[in-house]
Amino acid sequence: MKKALALTSIMAAAVTGCATGPTPIPDAGSPAARLYVSKCGLCHPLPHPKRNSYREWQHLLALMQQRMAERGMPVLTGEEKETLLGYLQRHAR
Ligand code: HEC
Repeated sequence: MKKALALTSIMAAAVTGCATGPTPIPDAGSPAARLYVSKCGLCHPLPHPKRNSYREWQHLLALMQQRMAERGMPVLTGEEKETLLGYLQRHAR
């Protein structure tokens, strides 16, 4: 999991937006990455952080919060949101 990602898999994920199977994500063992996996891989395959720029992630996170609320799922706490945004900022495109 700590190995550098194959650029091709990043590009494939970026193009299709739906990488199937276990896509290695950066800092996979860290608490932030684990939170990301547990919150963002529930309704669709986990999007790779490189898929979007940080600005896009800021927008997307708000949109995903809406999707969670619509489905009666617990939305992100302020702290979770901060952790996820920090993680995405470090690893965004
Ligand atoms: C409650 C289900 C649900 C959860 C949880 C969820 N998503 Fe989504 N996500 C969706 C749906 C539904 C779409 C399809 C586009 C739409 O309806 O907005 C989507 C689409 C996306 C897309 C593609 C959007 C695009 O058009 O480029 C990304 C990226 C994404 N989600 C990221 C995340 C991240 C990051 C999280 C964790 C914070 C997350 N999702 C959690 C339901 C969810």
